Amino acid sequence: MSTLVTGIGELVTNDPALGPGPLGIVEDAAVVVDGGRVAWVGTAARAPAADARLDVAGRAVVPGFVDSHTHLVFAGDRAAEFTARAAGVPYDGGGILDTVRATRAAGDSALRARLRARLAEMRAQGTTTVEIKSGYGLTTAEEARALRLAGEVTEETTFLGAHAVPPEFAGRTHEYVDLVTGAMLTACAPHARWIDVFCEPASPHAFDGDAARAVMAAGARAGLGLRVHAGQLAPGPGALLAVELGAASADHCTYLTDADVAALAEGETVATLLPGVEFSTRHPYPDARRLLDAGVTVALATDCNPGTSYTSSMPFCVALGVRELRMTPAEAVWAATAGGARALRRDDVGRLGPGARADLTVLDAPSFVHLAYRPGVPLARALDLPE
Ligand code: NIG
Ligand code: FE
Repeated sequence: MSTLVTGIGELVTNDPALGPGPLGIVEDAAVVVDGGRVAWVGTAARAPAADARLDVAGRAVVPGFVDSHTHLVFAGDRAAEFTARAAGVPYDGGGILDTVRATRAAGDSALRARLRARLAEMRAQGTTTVEIKSGYGLTTAEEARALRLAGEVTEETTFLGAHAVPPEFAGRTHEYVDLVTGAMLTACAPHARWIDVFCEPASPHAFDGDAARAVMAAGARAGLGLRVHAGQLAPGPGALLAVELGAASADHCTYLTDADVAALAEGETVATLLPGVEFSTRHPYPDARRLLDAGVTVALATDCNPGTSYTSSMPFCVALGVRELRMTPAEAVWAATAGGARALRRDDVGRLGPGARADLTVLDAPSFVHLAYRPGVPLARALDLPE
């Protein structure tokens, strides 16, 4: 059944062929959706007929947010760790092991319920595509379980066995990396599209450049696409490694050298910025302006996880992008939609041109600018269309 969505005061298509600027804005717009895809986009005055009609009464519509970095399979929370940071206790990655303990102890149905609750929360705030990492199991069986659960709700599943060295391998990082790149990868690869590594030599719990390279090489051999947690706590080898290996995304990028920025500008790797993390860890925010001015493709994502960024809100990240990362509202909205799609190497989401998935997010506002202009106000929701 086709549906004509009309009364769109301002439509962000992210297709420069459809309207001015990178956002491809169409005013007084309408969209025809058919079979879950965008079939037609234009001004309301020229809209064709359709089986059903939905009037959004002058509101703005943007492509559904693409949250390209989350860790949604977990149990418990770390509110006490968050509180301790307010008293000056720094984040070093060690809290990951608290969440590993809680997650291993949780049954499938409890994990599934939590995962689905967070996803519903995301959709209610306009997110329609979500990448989900494992990484709170850290045994072969637990990592495979996390990926199976993630695979029930998204195609964008990421194997993150190299998230932290689990307590049973303390002081034996090499042996743990052998497990991750051996039996664990064999069990997890069928359930994953991507592989990721927490490359952070500054953390005693994470992985150095050599370990990260070994994890990436094994993942690539298993047919997985590559992503890297890079430069979250200090400058490190992650960003250059990501570019060298053709990773889809280098994530965090809070601490980058000039050489990192130059390499990202030359390569195919998206820099995915996660400002919810700096809100929580109190590190300086990443500098999107520096990256954009150098020609780097930038994405924004939540990194939703119980340790460093327990937000499910892409609008919150857009607002931080404008206020703290030195982005314009247009750059931040592009990064949260088309940028996320680039980071996942997808061309069917993050835009609203013909052929794209019919992921329309409606704003209770006349313009996309209000996402940053009215922070904390629940303006965005994913539009439910008749089947
Ligand atoms: O992306 N940095 C590593 N992983 C997560 C944090 C995980 C945690 O602290 O539980 C991140 O920030
Ligand atoms: Fe992360």
